[in-house]
Amino acid sequence: MYENPRLILDSSNPPEPGQMLWRSPSNLAIIKYWGKHGVQLPRNPSLSFTLAASCTDTALEYAFKETADNQIDLEFYFQGEKNEAFRARTLTFLESLTPQFPFLRQLQLTVRTGNSFPHSAGIASSASGMSALALGLCSLEDALFGTLQDAEAFDRKASYIARLGSGSACRSIFPKAAVWGATPAVPGASDEYAVPAEDLLHPVFHDFHNDILIVSTAEKPVSSRAGHALMEGNPYAESRYAQARSRLTALLSALRSGDLQDFGKIAEDEALTLHALMMSSNPSFLLLHPNTLALIEKIRAYRAETKHPVFFSLDAGPNIHLLYPGDIIAEVRGWIEDELRQHCADGWFIQDWVGDGPEEM
Ligand code: PMV
Repeated sequence: MYENPRLILDSSNPPEPGQMLWRSPSNLAIIKYWGKHGVQLPRNPSLSFTLAASCTDTALEYAFKETADNQIDLEFYFQGEKNEAFRARTLTFLESLTPQFPFLRQLQLTVRTGNSFPHSAGIASSASGMSALALGLCSLEDALFGTLQDAEAFDRKASYIARLGSGSACRSIFPKAAVWGATPAVPGASDEYAVPAEDLLHPVFHDFHNDILIVSTAEKPVSSRAGHALMEGNPYAESRYAQARSRLTALLSALRSGDLQDFGKIAEDEALTLHALMMSSNPSFLLLHPNTLALIEKIRAYRAETKHPVFFSLDAGPNIHLLYPGDIIAEVRGWIEDELRQHCADGWFIQDWVGDGPEEM
């Protein structure tokens, strides 16, 4: 898809040097994507909230190459410093994208990228990083060829390209929420790119909080690539994929009606299922930390006691995503200070919320 050999620059009329600058957020899956096939195609549909505070800024600088060769020329700076490991990974990714962006071989490229959250936070930056890069590449195509003027076509291609970089990144392109993966429950949904889901949300979710309680900042013992691959031999795989499909339908109904209890039950079940799948793979992985469990118990006890709709989710790591509506922020933040921070690494938590999606800067 999106292969276009005509996107080649005319060397008799080279473009002026320039740069594209995007800020793109991370996202938190409520229905989890875990298990893939082919080229980054999901085994089940997923739905995520787009975050606001956890984001990556990426500048893509370009200049027409004086001497033509067939290489992609790339320099890579991460948080202001040259980074050879990231350069090598990004170069491999860009090489894989030359069918979609053949003009990349004609340019000298410099990527300058950095995260709003410290790299050491143990927060995955692949969704924000890959979506920011994909948006920069699509802006660059549009600046050079004028081929992505239509906003919907632009977002779709950016989501498609982001998916090739990191599956979950394709969902970061859209404000508030996104669905990725073909499902009869969402007309137009596709395995190839995500689609916007803001219109499927009751207003209570437009103002939802997603604070991240940092339980551990240690590097994950298993990459998400290896984790997805382990689903292939997982004895629960097929029933898991069917479960994700039916939970998505139930979640969509809770999101539409604003039923927070139904929403929260599905969010927590999905978080624990993701970890159950990792624990039941071969080899198995245990990514939960004693403090993750202590926090889950406190969250459930607080909910039972106060009746406040506060729920948790997890990514593929020990950190807790605390989900709650905007109208109880004062009580919840006070409780985080008094009861929850003591379980966080250096008392650290990130205030985040459902956001408006990427921004060109
Ligand atoms: O996008 P990847 O390949 O890093 O996979 C991410 C998978 C989870 O974050 C665990 C779940 C999800 O849907 O985002």
